[in-house]
Amino acid sequence: MGLYDELSIFTGNANPELAKAVCRYVGVPLGRMDVFEFSNENTFVKINESVRGNDVFIIQPTSSPVNRSIMELLIIIDAMKRASAGRITAVIPYYSYGRTDKKDQPRVPITARLIADMLQVAGAERVLTIDLHAGQIQGFFNIPVDELTATYLLTDYFKQKRLSNPVVVSPDLGSVKRARSFAEPLGASIAIVEKRRVGNQDKSEVMNLIGTVKGQPAILVDDEIDTGGSITQAARAVLEFGATEVYACCAHPVLSGAAVSILQDSPLTEIVCTDTIPIPPEKMLPNITVLSVANLLGETIQRIHTGASVGMLFRQI
Ligand code: R5P
Repeated sequence: MGLYDELSIFTGNANPELAKAVCRYVGVPLGRMDVFEFSNENTFVKINESVRGNDVFIIQPTSSPVNRSIMELLIIIDAMKRASAGRITAVIPYYSYGRTDKKDQPRVPITARLIADMLQVAGAERVLTIDLHAGQIQGFFNIPVDELTATYLLTDYFKQKRLSNPVVVSPDLGSVKRARSFAEPLGASIAIVEKRRVGNQDKSEVMNLIGTVKGQPAILVDDEIDTGGSITQAARAVLEFGATEVYACCAHPVLSGAAVSILQDSPLTEIVCTDTIPIPPEKMLPNITVLSVANLLGETIQRIHTGASVGMLFRQI
């Protein structure tokens, strides 16, 4: 037993199904709480059970509607703090604004840092998250951050497919390390699509392919699929360079804007992702496969609660 006797799990409105699945794994009921918006768009939270002294985990990806999900999370944390929770962990399976993590042009914000500050001011004492856009975002926090990865869940799925001589492809220069970690358990080679973003709009263009994909099935690996533009362009490029078929794979299915029609028109055989973000039925294409991170999160929550190693987890779940 850890420092705090009772483990409680709560959720906002961003991904209650994932929270329920985590509760099933951990074996605790989902905490009772109302989280709703008044007609003036102010968010209200009421915790309907005592959390005094408890080890509280709040599961809330900051996914669509992004700003509302962030406000809900902050307000829930504030309510927990004022209700004398013993320790508050923000479980953020998907951390939005992760791409705004540096001042890479004049007069722009570092919003990923701002959100980190807001979470700490609200009262979060730990953060548990999955596949940040860049690992360095951990350093925006002055509280412990456990960053899990969905890589092994995804590579296990591809292992079962027994693709012949697959090549793992990074759809941009920023995801090369991720592609390397993905390729290793599969014993696959890697290739890199050289992409560049055009302005601040959701547009990118493919410039080159580094490595070889000829005659091989390709697996494109990214942290998220947002509008689907990057992955679709990369898929077309690897087919042009001779790949036999292309799979896409990511932790976070953001699927914003026209993503669904872009992906529908893409040459992708299958899109494999996780349930860090819920996919509404109208966006659920027949070739999308969703793997659940619930057990990974549940096991980690149990270990944080009992003070056991989390690092031990990576190759076990
Ligand atoms: C960017 O650096 C990320 O890793 C993804 O490549 C990006 O978020 C994908 O965006 P989209 O699907 O809109 O092209």
